[in-house]
Amino acid sequence: MIIRKTPAELEKMRAAGLLVHGILKRMEAMVSEGVTTLELELEAEKMIRDAGAKPAFKGYYVPAVGQRYQFVLCTSVNEEVVHGLPSAKRILKKGDIVSIDTGVELNGYYGDSAITVPVGEVSPKVERLLAVTRESLELAIDQMRAGNRLFDVCGAVERHVNSHGFGIVREFVGHGIGTQLHEEPQVPNYVDRKNENPRLKEGMVLAIEPMVNAGKPESRVTADKWTAVSKDGSFSAHFEHCVAITAEGPWVLTRP
Ligand code: MF3
Ligand code: CO
Repeated sequence: MIIRKTPAELEKMRAAGLLVHGILKRMEAMVSEGVTTLELELEAEKMIRDAGAKPAFKGYYVPAVGQRYQFVLCTSVNEEVVHGLPSAKRILKKGDIVSIDTGVELNGYYGDSAITVPVGEVSPKVERLLAVTRESLELAIDQMRAGNRLFDVCGAVERHVNSHGFGIVREFVGHGIGTQLHEEPQVPNYVDRKNENPRLKEGMVLAIEPMVNAGKPESRVTADKWTAVSKDGSFSAHFEHCVAITAEGPWVLTRP
């Protein structure tokens, strides 16, 4: 069942969403040559605690891994797709890209968002990867209207990414969000005809999160059991927003 939120609940999700936005803005400003992904982690955790919120990811049990995640951020560099583990050993260098994903729980409601940030200048192809992934998220957001169906959202990402020849990661998907980090439905970044295609209604909130490889779509998990990387070693981008369906249209909760 997809849980619909009241306007008062959406206001609480908005507060969580704006906190996540503020953290990601700070992360974006911190990203530069020589910074470690652990430095990002420590600053993000401080911001979350200072806001009186709880990190949504730290301690979160992921059944597919069989473990609890140990950080407030996922920091996935270059060919890493998702769930990159912050580390003092991971020093960002020019030409890298880093996907930063974080979630918080504030007053019982969750926010979840991700950005991919270039470190200095990146190649034109990587620039295009970032632009296309970001655009695919915007096109999906625009489908978040009562009366549309879930496949309109998934299909918007799929069509745009495919038209540019990049690889859509299939092993990880977006999700409903509310009083839980992960609620129904799953939101793949492609139309999965095995799934149901529910009609979208006012009060539904989806975390839409395209993960796109510059090369082939396949990914694998590394020896640390968490970090997913593209199988062909191509760079991977990830952008995510929480989006509510309102009478006035899509409401992106995780940006101003
Ligand atoms: N953004 C991802 C998601 O929404 C990351 C959460 S998984 C965790 O599913 F392991 F980091 F908690
Ligand atoms: Co998410």
